[in-house]
Amino acid sequence: MPLQKRRQAAALQSTLFVRDTAEILRGLNPHLSPTIFSMDYSISKPRVARLDVVQFFGRKAPLHVDLGCGDGTFLCEMAQQFPKKNFLGIERLTKRVEKVRRKAEKIENVRVLRADTLLAVRDLLPECSVGTFYLLFPDPWPKRRHHCRRIFTRDFLDAIAVALEQNGMLRVATDHLDYFQQIERLSCADRQFEVEPQLPNDFIFPVTKFERKFRDQSAPIYRLTLRKTSPVT
Ligand SMILES: C[S@@+](CC[C@H](N)C(=O)[O-])C[C@H]1O[C@@H](n2cnc3c(N)ncnc32)[C@H](O)[C@@H]1O
Repeated sequence: MPLQKRRQAAALQSTLFVRDTAEILRGLNPHLSPTIFSMDYSISKPRVARLDVVQFFGRKAPLHVDLGCGDGTFLCEMAQQFPKKNFLGIERLTKRVEKVRRKAEKIENVRVLRADTLLAVRDLLPECSVGTFYLLFPDPWPKRRHHCRRIFTRDFLDAIAVALEQNGMLRVATDHLDYFQQIERLSCADRQFEVEPQLPNDFIFPVTKFERKFRDQSAPIYRLTLRKTSPVT
């Protein structure tokens, strides 16, 4: 496909995501102003107003974001364990977003957005607004020709670094060794982060739906925690 057509297609896709996101936001919270998003249909990149996190949750509290939250099992359990924190799920599949919404109906500190992870982290979340990101069992795209679809890239890490508070964390888990090695390589090479030693108390985290599946198959699970480091002054 010629470059211009590819760009138009990509812009259209992002724009649809943005519009859906705005609708979900308004659907979840009818008090939100319909002008919370400004949309720019230019071909290069849609411009989106940053999410007003305090307005979205109706309170100021440390923010945890589950990227590709699936059916929301982890998100909702965490939210119940830590009622003083805000939990935001990002998921691109409508049916899964609906599942999360149903699960979270009676949990006050959960919100979910149907959005693309990179778009949400890079264009929607305010700078230095997130205490912890979770990227749990991201799609591994095992075929070599599909590796370019993996979410964990330098651009992804750059966006995460901007959205995280100082000393904020990114917690990653996968059952896929090749993907894990790529994640480790990119993480160790990125000076915006330090790799944290694996905490022995990791087991306190709730098990995600996919983790349960992999555990049942006795598959090994690889984990990595990154901490955003202070800028050198
Ligand atoms: C393997 S599932 C893991 C779900 C959940 N984290 C768990 O551990 O049970 C990966 C999830 O990420 C979602 N996903 C994949 N790519 C995404 C993207 N670019 N933006 C948002 N969600 C995405 C998929 O729809 C799917 O729900």
